[in-house]
Amino acid sequence: MGRAEVFDTAGPQPRHVAIIMDGNGRWATRRGLPRLEGHRRGVETVRQIVEACPDFGIEFLTLYAFSSENWKRSAEEVAGLMGLFRRYFRKEAANLVKRGARVKFIGDRTELAQDIQDMMASLETQSAANEKLTIVIALNYGGRGEITRAARRLAAEVADGSRSLDDVNEASIGAALDAPGIPDPDLVIRTSGEQRISNFLLWQCAYAEFLFVDELWPDFNRDAFARALAVFGARERRFGAVAG
Ligand code: IPE
Ligand code: IPE
Ligand code: MG
Repeated sequence: MGRAEVFDTAGPQPRHVAIIMDGNGRWATRRGLPRLEGHRRGVETVRQIVEACPDFGIEFLTLYAFSSENWKRSAEEVAGLMGLFRRYFRKEAANLVKRGARVKFIGDRTELAQDIQDMMASLETQSAANEKLTIVIALNYGGRGEITRAARRLAAEVADGSRSLDDVNEASIGAALDAPGIPDPDLVIRTSGEQRISNFLLWQCAYAEFLFVDELWPDFNRDAFARALAVFGARERRFGAVAG
């Protein structure tokens, strides 16, 4: 499906779509496979969705890859996920960057292995001037942690006198978050039927539209993405004003 078809059948397109990619484990377990196999298949869905974004007019795509709470999983699953991230950054993300994508990371990277931190820094540096699709990867991310880091930074500046208390406001808090300059998400999609936010983009989601779909992430695909965008197009956003 091309961009024109989506525009013909739907209202406005989101500039920024954020996705809680949930359901990999259940996808695998239902097939008698190890959970990691579900994560592997999930990477294939990431590939399809990233490819579809430019066709659908999406400029920013945020993907929730690993939450600050996901360390609670077995050491085996965490290590398997870290291995998948390494492989994805080395090959696919590097290729996307060569093709003009900009990659950014949000989350507390200091808790990640040094080689992963190095790959993240290098992807960001190499792609900083790219202007095609911006892919924001949330890795060891939690919304409360992000807001807390921002608050501490601003508090330190007020304490050392480099910032006045009047300069602590919505704009400066937003600018102290992990990815300043990225517009708030217009649409948040969560797969797998769960209807919760799981500590994702708490500040940025103030006026996002939410869509919960039943497909498990490995079963989500370009057509399901197009359907989600059509639902978004039919929504009326009011931002607190009166309809009309
Ligand atoms: C999402 O799938 C991927 C990560 C959280 C890393 P899950 O692994 O949460 O899959 P379910 O929810 O157990 O099915
Ligand atoms: C949210 O999914 C995190 C990611 C998709 C990376 P979880 O599967 O960790 O969320 P809960 O535990 O069901 O809320
Ligand atoms: Mg889950």
